[in-house]
Amino acid sequence: LLAGGPVAYNKRRDLYVISHYEAVREAARADGALSSAEGITRARVRLPMMITMDRPQHTRLRRAVLPGFTKPALQRWNPTIDTLAADLVGELRAAPSADMVSRLAVPLPVRIIAHVLGIPPEDQDVFRTWSDWIVEGFQLELRPDLPKRFSRSVRGLLRLSAYLQRQLDSGRLLEGDGVLGRLQRDTADGTISAEELFWFTSLLLVAGNETTTNLLSTMFLTLAEQPEQYDLLHERPELVTAAVEEQLRFSSPIQGFYRTATTDYQIGDALIPARSRVLLLFGAANRDPRQFTDPDAFDVTRPASQHLAFGSGIHLCLGAHLARAEGQAVLRHLLETTKRIEVTSRPVWNTNSALRGLHHLPVTL
Ligand code: HEM
Repeated sequence: LLAGGPVAYNKRRDLYVISHYEAVREAARADGALSSAEGITRARVRLPMMITMDRPQHTRLRRAVLPGFTKPALQRWNPTIDTLAADLVGELRAAPSADMVSRLAVPLPVRIIAHVLGIPPEDQDVFRTWSDWIVEGFQLELRPDLPKRFSRSVRGLLRLSAYLQRQLDSGRLLEGDGVLGRLQRDTADGTISAEELFWFTSLLLVAGNETTTNLLSTMFLTLAEQPEQYDLLHERPELVTAAVEEQLRFSSPIQGFYRTATTDYQIGDALIPARSRVLLLFGAANRDPRQFTDPDAFDVTRPASQHLAFGSGIHLCLGAHLARAEGQAVLRHLLETTKRIEVTSRPVWNTNSALRGLHHLPVTL
């Protein structure tokens, strides 16, 4: 794809695929011509969430939630992230060989989201269970147990909805300093409804969990496979931030999202006709040699670059600072406590090609 033009047409799927860096960035910003409202996954899941809304509905919701997601607002959670990352890395070190996906990469993001939302500590276990159920249903992999997983996902959504409604009615969330309490306070005039709050919470679970899990799992694998880069980080720990950015570029957790053309859309010499489905390949763009020198090399000393792992334009990831903080905290604690990451048996990748990450990664530290 990268060797060809910026856009390729897949006849079998009747799909336009954009892969070049400049073209993907431009397309992500062209929200007037390329709509998210018909769903951004191949399966065209359309729920009343901001990620599948166009302007002006998207603008209203994004404005309402933004204050809780600015960099300074999210930095408040850094001490919690740091403690949890230290505990989970410590537990991994204590085990002779352990699956880092189920022991660290899955629990860290879901626990942090529960904190950020302001779920009271006594409810966090049950909240985590519902989160896991909900997220399972959105993985949309063609597995034999899909119907079972899907019905569990719906059950999770229903329980979460009832729970949030009870919390909102009782005013209990207002007591904490979490994002939901803050939103309830800031939007007491009805700017956003209880239903919108529920869908926003569900979106955070779906958008924020598996993506961050995948960042963490692939980071472990990259550093295990490239011990010279891990040694370099030991010598120069100030490169931790750059290393997480490089990991996001090198192995983008979201490889691509879909759009629907609302008008004819021109890219270079190619014309994408109105009504076409279009795939924006963030992962391919992040390996484009026109933008990145030696793009298939993982290099923590690479000069700062604008990778597209968090998208671009109006839907730019809302949780990017949180995901970065989690990646950096885990990497810092790994460097402090261990000289090598060793993979003890064959890694198992997820089968969903849009979400790049590991299902199973046994390691010893
Ligand atoms: C949107 C990637 C973590 C919440 C996006 C988009 C990408 C992305 C590519 C743009 C979608 C589009 O253009 O259609 C990632 C990656 C993550 C991550 C790679 C982890 C490494 C998180 C976390 C949260 C989050 C931790 C929340 C706590 C969201 C939300 C949106 C979004 C709410 C929709 C924003 C909007 O429509 O305005 N993310 N994300 N993400 N992300 Fe993330």
